[in-house]
Amino acid sequence: MNILALSGSLRAASENTRLLHALAQVAPAGMRVVVYAGLGELPLFNPDIELPNPPAVETLRAAINAADAVVIASPEYAHGVSAVIKNALDWMVGNESFVNKPVALLNAAPRATHAYLALRETVTMMSARVIDDASLVLTQPITGMTEDEILCHPEHVHVLSRVIAGLRVK
Ligand SMILES: Cc1cc2nc3c(=O)[nH]c(=O)nc-3n(C[C@H](O)[C@H](O)[C@H](O)COP(=O)(O)O)c2cc1C
Repeated sequence: MNILALSGSLRAASENTRLLHALAQVAPAGMRVVVYAGLGELPLFNPDIELPNPPAVETLRAAINAADAVVIASPEYAHGVSAVIKNALDWMVGNESFVNKPVALLNAAPRATHAYLALRETVTMMSARVIDDASLVLTQPITGMTEDEILCHPEHVHVLSRVIAGLRVK
C-alpha cells in the first residue's frame, strides 16, 4: 500500500513535515508512506497555463494517481490553509486526481481549527473521500520536538497509529 504525504509547509524545520516523516516511521511492513518534496516547485495556479499541466504539476498528479491514499498535514496561517497546500490542491481540481481518492487530514496543531476545517471542505468539494477514522488532531503541540521525540511520545504515537489503522481499512 502506497501512501503519499503532502505537507503544507516549505519550512526546513516544519512541524507538519516532521510529523509526516514520523508517520512514515510508524507505518508497518507492506505500507510505504512517502513525504512529497515537490510542492515548492509548483507554479502559482493560473488556469491560463493549465493545459497541458506544467511538468511539476504533472509529477504531482502522477504521484497522487499512483497512491492508494493521500495524507495532508498543513499549517494554519491567518485562520486559513497555507498557500502552499491550497496552490497544490487548486492545480489538482482540473485533472480530477482527488476524485474518489481516500484522504486523511492530520492536524499537527490542536488550536489550528480554522485551516483544518477549510482543508476538509476543499478536498470534499474536490470529491475526495475523507477517511474520518484516519483524520485526527494531535492532542498536544509538537513544537520543538524532534522526529525521535515525537516517536517516543505515547500520545503522539497513539494518534499516528490510529491514522495508519484508518488508512489500512480505507
Ligand atoms: C504568518 C503566520 C500566520 C499564522 N497564523 C496562525 C493562525 O491563524 N492560527 C494558528 O493556530 N497558527 C498560526 N500560525 C502558526 C503556524 O501555524 C505554526 O507556526 C505552524 O507550526 C507552522 O507550520 P510548520 O511548522 O509546519 O511550518 C501562523 C504563523 C505564521 C508565520
